[in-house]
This record gives sequence, structure tokens and C-alpha cells, in this order.
Amino acid sequence: MNPLVAPRDDLRSLEGYHSPQLDVAVRLNTNESPFEPPAEFVDRWVDELRHAPLNRYPDRAARDLREALGRHLGQPTERLFCANGSNEVLQTLLLTYGGPGRRAAMFEPTYALHSHIARITGTEVVIGERRADFSVDPDAARALIAEQAPTIVFVCSPNNPTGTVEPAATIEALLEVEGRHLVVVDEAYGEFAPRSALELVRDDRALVVVRTYSKVWSMAALRLGFAVGPTWVIDELEKVVLPYHLASATQIAGRLALELGDEMSDRVHRLVAERERVAAELAALEGVTVHPSGANFLLFRPAGDGHERWQQLVDQGVLVRDFSRWPRLEGCLRVTIGTPDENDAFVAALRTALQGVAV
Ligand SMILES: Cc1ncc(COP(=O)(O)O)c(C=O)c1O
Repeated sequence: MNPLVAPRDDLRSLEGYHSPQLDVAVRLNTNESPFEPPAEFVDRWVDELRHAPLNRYPDRAARDLREALGRHLGQPTERLFCANGSNEVLQTLLLTYGGPGRRAAMFEPTYALHSHIARITGTEVVIGERRADFSVDPDAARALIAEQAPTIVFVCSPNNPTGTVEPAATIEALLEVEGRHLVVVDEAYGEFAPRSALELVRDDRALVVVRTYSKVWSMAALRLGFAVGPTWVIDELEKVVLPYHLASATQIAGRLALELGDEMSDRVHRLVAERERVAAELAALEGVTVHPSGANFLLFRPAGDGHERWQQLVDQGVLVRDFSRWPRLEGCLRVTIGTPDENDAFVAALRTALQGVAV
């Protein structure tokens, strides 16, 4: 069939974002929370929804949600921007500060949607390399920024898919480089990490930290993310995002979830403890290299062909993410930390998959 109209020339070579789903018993491939939201949260959410004026557009400024988030984070409401998942936050940042004739810098290997959304918004992508331990090299990053003059610099910390957490000194180094660029720290997994760039956010700094409800808050299905940044950035984002983009149901959910903060902290502690347990078990397996992680997942390289090991895990009903054919991640797989039973099933399946593989 001949399409009657062609997409933009610069989108022709673009492939969609794919994270294959398979029908298996143990799904540890998309970094979601293994826990459902607390029953009390769902009851209260549905109760509030019953009384919400659904014939009216939602609060365009998401005032109640942003105020509650501000109290939770110790930030003024004016420094908060909420959207449908942190992906929409990233897209709004790129629509506002990227676009034709502008560049976004990022350090590979990293979250694929940084470059994908950049390209969709017509922003040129500039790639910096990470060090062998997957951390960002501040000197190399400074040189890249000075040479390429991007308007946005993405740093993912903890980095997806490697789990690497950047020190504050690296973020500060990127902010100090001469130039007019926004440093965007994607902290989708920030709650699982020992440190955050949140406390570096100030009105006189071009720094934005992006977070999500999809992981810790067990709300991936509801699509809610937010940015914490200087008021002059937040004001611009509000101009660019579509009016009434954030449904009332999402705004209510985001506010109510914060009232269950203790329960969520407890989940974080359980997942971090599980992460360390699984990391130790992987490290003890012959022929497996596991990378340090500050997130709710682990990147590891099993002996032999990574894709074959991935298939053997799938054959045993365990789905992890296959990065084995990705540049810079040859042979690597990524496992999301699940419930203790799911994690046990994964380790047992990997042990079986490794039997007879030469190390
Ligand atoms: C680093 C990173 N940023 C952003 C996102 C998007 O999350 P959300 O569900 O909030 O759109 C993800 C999702 O996996 C992620 O890994």
C-alpha cells in the first residue's frame, strides 16, 4: 500500500521503542514494583473518585498534588511540574529546551528513551562514553559539553540499565561548564539509591531532577512522574505541555499515595535488601559478573552467549531484559528485583542455564 502522506524525513529511520513482553510465570524485565499498591490506597482513591466532578476538566495546575509533593520533598510548589509518567516530563523538557538546531547530550549506555524522545522532538543527539565501570567521566563530559554546546545534558542516576549512581561532584562539574545548558538528572530509581541530586536544585542553577511514581509507588499503570527544578524552568514547561494533560484520577492518586509514605519506605528497604542478596548470589555463581546497583535491578553478564542464557531463562518461565546485543553491553542481561520467591526462581533458573557452559 502506498501511504498518502509521509512522516517527517528525520523520523524515517526511527524505530519504535520495544520492550518485548512474554507470557511467563516470573516477569522481571521492566523494573516495575513487584508489589501491588496497598489496598487502603486503592479504597481511598476509588472513594475520592466517586466524588470527583468528572464532567469538569482536571485542575490544570495540579495544585493539590504539587503542594503535597512539595511538602513531601521539602520543595516549594513552584518548583514542581507533574506529567503522565516521567517520560512525558522528559518529552516536555525536550520540547521546551531542545528542538531543531539544538543538541541533547547523554552518556551511553543509558536509558534508550533519552535519545529516542530527543530525535522525535527534532533535537540532535550527542553521545558521550561512560567509563569501564559505567560511571560518567566528569572531564570527558566537560570536554563534550564545551565542544558540542548542547542545551540539555541528560544524566541518568541510578543509570538504567547499569544501576550506576553518580556522585554529586559529577553533577556539579556538569553544571559548572561554561555554556547555556540544562542538566537533567533522571532519578526514576532515585529512592533505591544512597544519594540524590534533589538537594542540589536551586533557583539559580540550571538543574532539573526527574522522578516517577512508577517504581516505588507501585503506580506504573497510572502514569505519573514529576520534575523538581528552578521556577523559571517549571514556568516554561507549563507553557509547553498540553492543557489539562493530567487526569483528575492521576492527580488524586499521586496525592493519596504520599500519605502512605511509611509503607513505601518499608518496600524500598525490602527491595534494597533483596537486591543485595541477589547480587551476592549472582556473584557467587561461576562465570557471572554482576555490576554494583543503586536501583531496583541488577545488570549482569553470564558466561557464554548472553542471548542463549536469556532464552534458557525464558524456557524456564523467567523473563529478564536482554541487552546482550546492545553496543557497550555485549553479553549482558538485566534483572528487576521482584519478590523473594521470584528472585529465588530467577537464581535457580540461571544456575540451571549455566550448567555445562564453559567459563
Ligand atoms: C531511567 C528511566 N527514566 C524514566 C522512565 C519512565 O518512567 P515512567 O513510567 O515514569 O514514564 C523509566 C522507565 O523505566 C526509566 O527507566
